[in-house]
Amino acid sequence: MLKKRVSIIHGPNLNLLGKREPEHYGNMTLEEINSMLINRAKELNIEIDIFQSNSESEIIDKIQSLSSDFTIINPAAFTHSSVAIRDSLVAKKIKFIEIHLSNVFAREAFRKNSFFSDVAVAIISGLGPEGYVAALNYINQSE
Ligand code: DQA
Repeated sequence: MLKKRVSIIHGPNLNLLGKREPEHYGNMTLEEINSMLINRAKELNIEIDIFQSNSESEIIDKIQSLSSDFTIINPAAFTHSSVAIRDSLVAKKIKFIEIHLSNVFAREAFRKNSFFSDVAVAIISGLGPEGYVAALNYINQSE
């Protein structure tokens, strides 16, 4: 069977995980989350690549260059503002799962609006880093 290829995209300020508002985002650093995902991907025989950027244009360029079967994206603050990143995912016809570490529906009102959810395969919000693992598990068993 061909190896599935999954791209993981982390949006702005997620490079600060571990020190950033641990009451919302927990104590794991982005490096620790990424190693957990690399290990799980190995177990599932999935090929992954991981990208983080604080820049909207770099995220768009990354999406335009994707050749993976599936994407797992935490657009972070761009969730609530970026028509441009949404448009790049739609233009690329890429299947993606939207992830949030925190439960965005239990926070400020502006976080309830996402420019991504209606074009995502699914959203996972509030499971912390386990949300990324759940997304990988789902992709593993999907067609
Ligand atoms: C976030 C939630 C967003 O509202 C916030 O701007 C983030 C992180 C999350 O993972 O819970 O930066 O996407």
